[in-house]
Amino acid sequence: MSETAVLHIDGGTFELPILRGSENEVAVDISKLRQEAGVITMDPGYGNTGSCRSAITFIDGERGVLRYRGIPIEQLAERSNFLEAAWLLMYSRLPTREELDEFTTHITYHTMVHEDVKRFFAGFPKDAHPMAITGAVVGALATFYPDSMEVSNDREMEIATHRLIAKVPTIAACSYKHSIGQPFMHPINRLDYAANFLHMMFATPAEDYEVDPLLARTMDLILLLHADHEQNCSASTVRMVGSSRANLFSAVSAGVHALWGPLHGGANQAVIEMLGQIRDSGDDGKAFLQKVKDKQTGVRLMGFGHRVYKNFDPRATILKKACFEVLERLKLDNPLLDIAVQLEEVALADEYFIERKLYPNVDFYSGIILQAIGVPVPMFPTLFTIGRLPGWIAQWSEMIHDPDTKIARPRQVYVGETERRYVPIEERPG
Ligand code: ACO
Repeated sequence: MSETAVLHIDGGTFELPILRGSENEVAVDISKLRQEAGVITMDPGYGNTGSCRSAITFIDGERGVLRYRGIPIEQLAERSNFLEAAWLLMYSRLPTREELDEFTTHITYHTMVHEDVKRFFAGFPKDAHPMAITGAVVGALATFYPDSMEVSNDREMEIATHRLIAKVPTIAACSYKHSIGQPFMHPINRLDYAANFLHMMFATPAEDYEVDPLLARTMDLILLLHADHEQNCSASTVRMVGSSRANLFSAVSAGVHALWGPLHGGANQAVIEMLGQIRDSGDDGKAFLQKVKDKQTGVRLMGFGHRVYKNFDPRATILKKACFEVLERLKLDNPLLDIAVQLEEVALADEYFIERKLYPNVDFYSGIILQAIGVPVPMFPTLFTIGRLPGWIAQWSEMIHDPDTKIARPRQVYVGETERRYVPIEERPG
């Protein structure tokens, strides 16, 4: 028996179908509401709006659950790696050994960028933000691969996705090398994905560079933890641009720009800046927390709280452990980690944070690890971009193959002037 919700409006009664997801999420289907009742719904920020049915990622924010294609993030973090998780997200099940080997070979094959792509970099100012460069160059890939424009050609699109996953780390590393005036390093395809990225970032032609396996594994973990997070701002942007059937490079480029925003991919930078300010002021964090609790100051504890997670963010738990491992192994004594731990301890015992269900999110510890690896702060969102790519691709592909997909085109409630006459300039009041 199908379930319905009933809406009474302007003397009319309208039945709205109810949809249930596989984890019992309930949604009221309002897709025919305007047609049948002449009204629309209003939901700024889309906090209560489902834009699609999706089988990719499940989050239960109340219980701190995150699963890619049904598999808990903890199990993937422990036993999988970034490329396998990418395959899982894109093809909806775990690969066989042959499938994973073949995928890894394809990605490895495409790691170099066309020599002419490198000429773009010369045109960017030295202090250009790596995200601005990455977004621009990813969009420009469309000019190099005109064979990848037809979004209904599954084989061409598969090649385009391989090109993106393979080339974005190369582009990101070039954007960093450009900013510090060092020569671009070619990828070394015998290295694994994360190690190759570290090589392109930190090696120079003048000296030997050995990638530290622990740092490569940690980088791989960070990428895996960021690989998808269902209908977030950048994934929704990729879907929205793609819904016009624009090419995949353009849709992903738009995703990069959405991710750049400080409310999305830029939060771990804000955490590092906050911890630095606390350190410089000589505070152990307690005075800072008083400021946070005083609403007049407008100060927030960065890296705490999440729109979806109202328990803990499972990615933060995994990264906190990795953070200790890396700093201990590198024998780094980072005062920012001590401050972070102290802040977390005090905040989790404080009524203000308990009442509001505020817990550390993925950004609270990721910046400290990235700093320990040697990644400069402006590169933080670029790393997030590399990690999120498989999620964007999976979301885009699901959207393209979904028979319910229409061009995304929200409505509005117009609150401007009603009709009025055009007044010639000489008749207008001075
Ligand atoms: N520090 C202090 N107070 C906070 C914080 C925080 N970090 N986060 C939320 N609150 C308070 C709010 O002031 C509000 O209090 P009130 O009820 O007394 O008015 C209450 O908690 C609810 O906060 P909202 O802003 O309504 O929660 P929302 O879900 O909209 O915001 C967000 C989530 C944006 C992540 C918020 O918690 C925040 O700003 N955190 C800090 C920034 C951050 O770490 N962002 C990264 C998120 S993870 C990611 O994007 C990958």
